[in-house]
Amino acid sequence: MQDFYKGKKVFITGHTGFKGAWLTQVLLSFGAEVKGYALAPNTEPSLYNLLNLKDKMQSVIADIRDGEKLKAEMTAFKPDIALHLAAQPLVRLSYAEPVMTYETNIMGLVHFLEAVRQTPSARSVVNITSDKCYENRETNTPYKETDPMGGFDPYSSSKGMAELLSASYRNSFFNPKDYGVKHKVALATCRAGNVIGGGDYALDRIAPDCARAISQGKEIVLRSPNATRPWQHVLEPLFGYLLVAKKLWDSVDYAQGWNFGPEPSDIKTVEELVKKFIAVWGKGSYSITPDTKLHEAKLLHLDITKAKTLLNWRPVYNFDKAVLTTAEWYKNFYEGKDIVAYTMKQIKDYSQDYAKLN
Ligand SMILES: NC(=O)c1ccc[n+]([C@@H]2O[C@H](COP(=O)([O-])OP(=O)(O)OC[C@H]3O[C@@H](n4cnc5c(N)ncnc54)[C@H](O)[C@@H]3O)[C@@H](O)[C@H]2O)c1
Repeated sequence: MQDFYKGKKVFITGHTGFKGAWLTQVLLSFGAEVKGYALAPNTEPSLYNLLNLKDKMQSVIADIRDGEKLKAEMTAFKPDIALHLAAQPLVRLSYAEPVMTYETNIMGLVHFLEAVRQTPSARSVVNITSDKCYENRETNTPYKETDPMGGFDPYSSSKGMAELLSASYRNSFFNPKDYGVKHKVALATCRAGNVIGGGDYALDRIAPDCARAISQGKEIVLRSPNATRPWQHVLEPLFGYLLVAKKLWDSVDYAQGWNFGPEPSDIKTVEELVKKFIAVWGKGSYSITPDTKLHEAKLLHLDITKAKTLLNWRPVYNFDKAVLTTAEWYKNFYEGKDIVAYTMKQIKDYSQDYAKLN
């Protein structure tokens, strides 16, 4: 991976966000040249600012809904690879702001794909959607890539629509049958589960909620203790996305949808995650206040057989290691340690374990 990305030009939307900042730092450590396009970070602190990314990359702070601006910035950069992560990613906020959620997640994607159409250098293109793109049957059967799209709430349905939209662009403009003749774009989508990791400061996400509460001596409040999620450390899907982009570079056969999630044995409840988080930190407590007002998916499992079989990708960390790595990052942060060095260490440790396993 490192050899492949060294010297490659990578355009990322959403680089100021939680996953985007980690992804940018990974790519920079691989020797890639990165240009990002996103709004300014909307949390204080933010991983983007903590890592001082604006000084290490070309960073454009602008709106994804401004199609002309996005097109101008992408075409000027002439990227080899384009990764789309910018989105309104919160289920609860999507109930409060459905119009903004759809404008960002749907029209933002249309503008991104239109920009790709005008950028002949961009060969590997990956759209990041979500495990929530599937029609949720609330059963224990994990979702395969071929299952129908859906989504109960505005966020989830926007990700189902983003999948359909990507498939339409792939059929209409980036058709694998016309690859090398009418176009040179291989477009894939990636559907990852709930990610945890240091540096996320969003509201209503369990890992930052735990870290904030423990560091302030407060109780963690759980809304849905029994909801299960495909928890993963953030570096797991990110390495999956980078692997897909690398494969797309060599073959349009990978221009499809890909699930990235944990092994079935690591799919746990919210309460199990919180208990583990408290155990790693060495202190903390929680209470349960069920919220029945807003519907949120209770059961979400992803089938990762396809990524394991065809990409030879597999999760590197189990549930315990993912929570340990996350809680330790926040503990270091709240204890005032050098968080840039610690983040780099976590990337290096993960990369070594990934290389051993893959
Ligand atoms: N975090 C998770 O557990 C998770 C799980 C599955 C999928 N995802 C997906 O991964 C991607 C990144 O999520 P995240 O957790 O890093 O979210 P985040 O909120 O931390 O980051 C979102 C990014 O999108 C940018 N953005 C939002 N609206 C924008 C706009 N109008 N114009 C330009 N940029 C805009 C933000 O500035 C930020 O850089 C999203 O597509 C999300 O749906 C996240």
